[in-house]
Amino acid sequence: MHRVVCPGSFDPVTNGHLDIISRAAAMYDEVVVAVLINVTKQGLFTVDERVELLREVTSEYGNVKIDRFHGLLVDFCAANGITAVVKGLRAVSDFEYEMQMAQANYRMAKVETLFMTTSPQYSFLSSSLIKQIARFGGDLSGLVPEPVASRLRRRMTGA
Ligand code: PNS
Repeated sequence: MHRVVCPGSFDPVTNGHLDIISRAAAMYDEVVVAVLINVTKQGLFTVDERVELLREVTSEYGNVKIDRFHGLLVDFCAANGITAVVKGLRAVSDFEYEMQMAQANYRMAKVETLFMTTSPQYSFLSSSLIKQIARFGGDLSGLVPEPVASRLRRRMTGA
């Protein structure tokens, strides 16, 4: 049984995240998508909302579970029988930070990190960019799943 984790803030989940999650789901027995509870950083969506959106947009994958964690990712891995982290790499600029985290996680608990290159059509995407586009009424089609786009539109217009 190979259970891996895709960790992140997911504020909100984008099609770039979904690309990595779905490809990981095709490779491993179980993929746990773990939302970081960050008490020092206020997001646009609450952790409950992010989890709810992730559940909705991954419902077609029977082996994807959504969870949340705080503290160290390696402690979440130990508590949940997870031996590897799967992360997407969009560009070389992601690499330095990701390598540092991967090395720290291996050093602390022998948790491996496996990198997957993001599909090229999503290599520019990030949750912050999505929030900017949404804030100014830009077109989100193809960038986020429809439930996320409609939730963003409602949040931005206060409807
Ligand atoms: O989507 P993000 O914000 O880039 O995700 C970052 C995340 C959640 C993967 C990373 O910040 C994380 O793992 N945080 C938990 C603390 C931790 O274990 N840090 C790495 C070793 S010091």
